Amino acid sequence: ATPAEEKDLVIIGGGVAGYVAAIKAGQEGLKVACIEKRGSLGGTCLNVGCIPSKSLLENSRIYHQIQHDVKNRGIDVGDVKLNLTQMMKAKDTSVSGLTKGIEFLFKKNNVEYIKGAGRFEDQNTVAVDLTDGGNSVVRGKNILIATGSEATPFPGLEIDEKKVVTSNGAIALTEVPKKMIVIGGGIIGLEMGSVWSRLGSEVTVVEFLGAIGGPGMDAEIAKSIQKTLAKQGMKFMLNTKVTNGDASGEGVKIDVEAAKGGKAQTLDADVVLCAIGRRPYTQGLGLDKIGLETDSKGRIVIDSEYRTKIPHIRVIGDCTFGPMLAHKAEEEAVAAVEYLTKSYGHVNYNAIPAVMYTHPEVAWVGQNEQELKEEGVKYKVGSFPFTANSRAKTNLDTEGMVKFLADAETDRILGVHIIGPNAGEMIAEGTLALEYGASTEDVGRTSHAHPTLSEAFKEAAMSTYAKAIHY
Ligand code: FAD
Ligand code: NAI
Repeated sequence: ATPAEEKDLVIIGGGVAGYVAAIKAGQEGLKVACIEKRGSLGGTCLNVGCIPSKSLLENSRIYHQIQHDVKNRGIDVGDVKLNLTQMMKAKDTSVSGLTKGIEFLFKKNNVEYIKGAGRFEDQNTVAVDLTDGGNSVVRGKNILIATGSEATPFPGLEIDEKKVVTSNGAIALTEVPKKMIVIGGGIIGLEMGSVWSRLGSEVTVVEFLGAIGGPGMDAEIAKSIQKTLAKQGMKFMLNTKVTNGDASGEGVKIDVEAAKGGKAQTLDADVVLCAIGRRPYTQGLGLDKIGLETDSKGRIVIDSEYRTKIPHIRVIGDCTFGPMLAHKAEEEAVAAVEYLTKSYGHVNYNAIPAVMYTHPEVAWVGQNEQELKEEGVKYKVGSFPFTANSRAKTNLDTEGMVKFLADAETDRILGVHIIGPNAGEMIAEGTLALEYGASTEDVGRTSHAHPTLSEAFKEAAMSTYAKAIHY
């Protein structure tokens, strides 16, 4: 083999973490290569995660709304039919447009894109099994691991991505299942459950805990969105565990019982979605060859500057600590490259927003009430319902509220929790407020355009230190 050129930075994984780091490194003038084995850039998020799921969420919402919520708006429509093939094509178009866009950005920023699977040969050398056959070797002064995550399998239920699916299969079903069981009432379960419920499936969500929403969601908000989703037709079995599954027959049979033990029953479904969380993906990477460790959850261990115990090897994104979110991966990518080129970087882990793209959306940033109680923090609460917001009223979309949690003494904002139309956009203001250490009074005394949904944000802040005007 020819001796490999040494790069300043070799990145393994071309997901959000890896591709953003590659572009940033290119911008900083580093010689950089990014190895990706999937055949396209963008990782889970662009190919099978954030982007395809949001395409299906938006289009299924429009379909559902045309069926159920246009007559009262003065719009009479004829027969409404679902064209699932076209809906999937629209999704694929969004995905391919975005993934190709990253290839373009790689070229623009002088990033070498190596198509293949990388594995450590030694602490500075990565061997690549090339997608088009053969292999090659790339050496790096620095190496960044950004290999992401995969769905955690449910023991005893074999995934075929047709009848028993993870989110990978759930974004690509070729017909609407009559009955769908979702194991896990976290973000994936509720988003993908919403899609298929809107398209006509009878969806039952089985959740081990006593609340839906997964980790981080405020308990009051979780109860509220559960009520709303139930009204939309989804069924929920909380405090319930799945004990067994059988997909050998025509459909799938799932045995469930009360989480604390109790009466068992068997549920039938055409499709079962396993959405019980995701785990870091480091398979085939050869971590053991260079002596790198993972913790009990499979996360590669790093310090606060993303360094492993081999200081020139860093790790970011889903395969290490922190929430498994695309924008978290993106922040880390920029910071990791800055640590390399400038010796400083910055990610504020207390101000990473989370959004669930159901309708209404749920979004939050900072701490929730359960956490504040647990920590014994003295806090005050303010809230404002969208039923009292003029824009929500004109939109005939008034479900939900904005809720502020602030320090009882200093009024500093500790958390913002929103359930409502466009919550995912609105939370950006909460994130900025938190990042700048704002008080609820800072927000309440800031002018917000009328009539906008964001006035509910302002009035919720006002209600925390004084009183809202319109409620
Ligand atoms: P990944 O995106 O998983 O990328 C890692 C890449 O590395 C992969 O492409 C993989 O092929 C490649 N790779 C792995 N090993 C090797 C190797 N040895 N050699 C070469 N390449 C390798 N997050 C949000 O913030 N908002 C959302 O709306 C959202 N929606 C989601 C919906 C779904 C259905 C799912 C599953 C996830 C969603 N997420 C969302 C989470 C988001 O997708 C992840 O947090 C994000 O993709 C993490 O980026 P990453 O680069 O760390 O990992
Ligand atoms: P999750 O951690 O959000 O939720 C998993 C749920 O499954 C939890 O409520 C858990 O209690 C439950 N569960 C676990 N084991 C169970 C069992 N045996 N039986 C019944 N319930 C069980 O994980 P999810 O939904 O799989 O998503 C993974 C990650 O992907 C998310 O945490 C998030 O980081 C990311 N994601 C983000 C999205 C967004 O930002 N909009 C969208 C989709 C995914």
